Amino acid sequence: MLRWMLLGILGLLPRAAGQAEMDLVPLPEQIERGTGVFRLDADTALVVTSTSQEARWAAELLDQVLAGGMPTRARQTDFPPRAGHVITFADGGDPALAPEGYELRITPEGVRLLAPEPLGLLRGVQTLRQLLPADFESGTRPVTEVTLPAVRIADRPRYRWRGMLLDCCRHFMDVDFVKRYIDLLAYHRMSVLHWHLTEDQGWRIQIDRYPKLTEVGAWRGPDRYGGFYSKQQVREVLEHARRRGITVVPEIELPGHSSAALAAYPNLGCSGGPYEVETRWGVFPDVYCAGNDETFAFLEGVLEEVIDLFPGTYIHIGGDECPKTRWQQCPKCQARIKAEGLADEHELQSYFVRRIEKFLNSRGRRLIGWDEILEGGLAPNATVQSWRGMNGAVKAASAGHDVISSPTSHCYLDYAQQRADGEPTFMGYIDLETCYAFEPTPSELSPEQARHVLGLEGNMWTEHAPQERVDYQVFPRLSALAEVGWSPKEKRDWPDFSARLATHLRRLDALGVTYFQPAPTCGTSARVFPDSIEVVLSGRPPDGTIVYTLDGTDPDAASACYTTPLRLTESTVVTTRGLRPGGGLTSKATYRFIRETHRPALPASGTPGLARRVYAGALRKLPADPPGPPTATDTAATCDLAGISLQRDYLVHLAGRLRVPRDGAYTFHLTSDDGSRLTLSGREVIDNDGLHGARTVSGQIMLAAGDHELLVEYFQAGGAQRLKLEWSGPDLPHQVVPASAFWHEDQ
Ligand code: ACM
Ligand code: ZN
Repeated sequence: MLRWMLLGILGLLPRAAGQAEMDLVPLPEQIERGTGVFRLDADTALVVTSTSQEARWAAELLDQVLAGGMPTRARQTDFPPRAGHVITFADGGDPALAPEGYELRITPEGVRLLAPEPLGLLRGVQTLRQLLPADFESGTRPVTEVTLPAVRIADRPRYRWRGMLLDCCRHFMDVDFVKRYIDLLAYHRMSVLHWHLTEDQGWRIQIDRYPKLTEVGAWRGPDRYGGFYSKQQVREVLEHARRRGITVVPEIELPGHSSAALAAYPNLGCSGGPYEVETRWGVFPDVYCAGNDETFAFLEGVLEEVIDLFPGTYIHIGGDECPKTRWQQCPKCQARIKAEGLADEHELQSYFVRRIEKFLNSRGRRLIGWDEILEGGLAPNATVQSWRGMNGAVKAASAGHDVISSPTSHCYLDYAQQRADGEPTFMGYIDLETCYAFEPTPSELSPEQARHVLGLEGNMWTEHAPQERVDYQVFPRLSALAEVGWSPKEKRDWPDFSARLATHLRRLDALGVTYFQPAPTCGTSARVFPDSIEVVLSGRPPDGTIVYTLDGTDPDAASACYTTPLRLTESTVVTTRGLRPGGGLTSKATYRFIRETHRPALPASGTPGLARRVYAGALRKLPADPPGPPTATDTAATCDLAGISLQRDYLVHLAGRLRVPRDGAYTFHLTSDDGSRLTLSGREVIDNDGLHGARTVSGQIMLAAGDHELLVEYFQAGGAQRLKLEWSGPDLPHQVVPASAFWHEDQ
């Protein structure tokens, strides 16, 4: 138990004036408001009585923050501090708060930050930072105007693993950016940076024994996009993280997602290559050969150097999305299966991971892998990061393994934050409230099993996010996940968090974080209309307005202000943003409206199904004309890829007629991986072209009852293959377009 008790019933009181300065994120375990304020001034001294280096780092951080408002302020203990002008960093406080907890006591007479273990001072100083005025760190306010509210905080985290992944492979992130990301994790009292360093699309860490990993593996495509971190840069990042109490966990992917390594050292693949550093997104069949002892010598050599660099206990080895097709055909892999008495290729993957685990354990390190490492048998000491839902977490914790909860449903911050026409939807949507509602400990677990849940991790994959987009994807969802990981479960309260977030966003503004803010949404579901249409916009930012343009240009503060529904009588692009009280703009949404009359129908004719033609060709987008004669022609009952035997590098045309039951506006949703397009009655309805993962794009068209010419084009470059066409219409609920709607003329 903590030494002192919460006195007030703050949670039950209405938000009072002045409470904004206490809008802490994540919410501390206990807050007790005092009376009065501590005034900072030119004489305020930071005094470190703890001998720990963490105390010094905490004081240095606060010193830097305050220096932004007062360059001449005296430093540290080089003069006798005056009573009432001291911020002290000390050992102490309730031992029950260890290892990360702290006590912060602010009175008009002084500020004391205490922690039973030094790491707590690094967490507590972040809370102290948040008690400064929200705009303080923009550097516009002199410190002499600053007060800290009298308060007593006792705080510690719910989980010890509060992580964020940063994928520096799909897009390269420079060293300063990685350090800033670490700063922002620390600001949210998170504890782990999961640094994703190797991938199909790039190897990003210098390994002396294998120089080609970065000479060859760090660069992709004809324009040689890429980059890597030298050992010196890695050390610099690690030192930066250490001073902020952030553990950096490197991820060295195996056995899959290894195209870049194979491009550098083709002898490590089953076929011997040649291989290329991938320029496409997805999952690729060429992986490390599990039958070749050179593979293990190589990986141990790499890991040896990684272990020398990274001081933390954990090494992440990936383990996800490893196709087994090459292993099935490889004599060496098959010989390994036989020699080791393994049942199949899943057990071969398990053999692979166990062998690596044994090596890591022999060096005093622990292995983490994505939940695929459960397949074929889990390595004995492995920690599982559950991403394909929470089943992996339940299974691993039930078997006595530690787990990190990181499901795609709540933790994938590369997914879109809002359903809006202009917001790319490569994978799915996770809004802020969904993130905030995440529960990292599955209810199925007994209290004993639940102790294996180390915490949670958010993932920032960067296929679609160069460095300058990362803030937009990550924030403010990271703020929500940070609170899920830190604050007591019983204190979690969405309305309260939302209210605190308003202040917290001003802090993020001051820190220069370009976070996502919901764009106005369109309450009008129709996008096509015969005569005129009323367009309703909603989602005004608090105390702000909605601005819009009708000519495709990006709205700004001077654009038209939305007050009543817009009446459109011509095809129009409505582009809109929220305008916040301070003049800031929210994210943008674009809604396209097309004025058209029903497309006339053809008389019903033909035979069931669509004429399907398959063409071979390595494509990056849909071509104007097929690359040659078709390699296969058949009739497809429905609009999909059923029965196509090619794995990659092909184009499909599905052509025929769509029979619609009655006149009206029809909405289509075309999902594909990679690109696709839907043309109906000669009009392009959906453009979902380009290299991408499963992505759904929607479109509408007015159709008269009867038959309409249909063409669906699709190409597959590599990785997953997917094509799906759904619709809804008058009296027609949202569904996959059924076989009964497809017809074609005999060929
Ligand atoms: C993953 O998202 N493939 C772990
Ligand atoms: Zn092999």
